[in-house]
Amino acid sequence: MTDAELAALRQTYAQRTLLETDVLPDAVRQFRQWLDEAVAAQLPEPAALTLATVDAATGQPSQRVVLLKGLPDDAGFLFYTNYDSRKGHELASQPRAALNFFWPGLERQVRVEGLVEKAPADTSTAYFQSRPRGSQVGAWASPQSQVIGSRQELEAREHEIEAEFADQNPLPRPPHWGGYVLRPQRVEFWQGRPSRLHDRLVYEREASSGGWRISRLAP
Ligand SMILES: Cc1cc2nc3c(=O)[nH]c(=O)nc-3n(C[C@H](O)[C@H](O)[C@H](O)COP(=O)(O)O)c2cc1C
Repeated sequence: MTDAELAALRQTYAQRTLLETDVLPDAVRQFRQWLDEAVAAQLPEPAALTLATVDAATGQPSQRVVLLKGLPDDAGFLFYTNYDSRKGHELASQPRAALNFFWPGLERQVRVEGLVEKAPADTSTAYFQSRPRGSQVGAWASPQSQVIGSRQELEAREHEIEAEFADQNPLPRPPHWGGYVLRPQRVEFWQGRPSRLHDRLVYEREASSGGWRISRLAP
């Protein structure tokens, strides 16, 4: 593809609208409604989100895709990972993150910002032990985000873990693996509209009441 062809790639968004009268007063409940619609529309990986974190020492942001695994108490966004990974270290240094969901099939984007805390240990253990055995082994075997010598080294480690835990089912949860819950302070819902005059409604947490203030942003 040439740059001219690339520059000419554009989509007109005209499927839906997003009006103040359409939305629920609570941001997480509104998110759950959009997630349900993404699932109902059979979009690929509807729960996949881009998670952005920051290295507090350098200010360098980084991002990667993870899967949303819950909206506990309709008050947080739950995902699982390795606490010793790059994202784990960044969250330890700066416990704030931004999430992005993009559902092109519905011409929608959601942006979430807030503070991140570790999920309760019993929540992480219950979820870990509900995963397929191969994933449990993988979490023990893989030092996520560290440099490794080869694919063979990883597979050898997998076989070692399988042998070590041969008589245990489920496996214990590794101490370096678990959930994080992002407590949202700001959630923006974006709906594509014609002529790039998209709808954007942003929810901001009100410190005094704990409720949400909803505003419209220019596209
Ligand atoms: C669709 C998809 C889903 C993923 N889900 C997860 C997940 O739930 N947890 C996770 O730790 N990594 C997940 N990954 C891998 C991450 O994108 C990333 O490679 C890994 O977490 C290491 O990131 P880090 O080095 O920035 O910590 C997923 C990747 C893709 C493409």
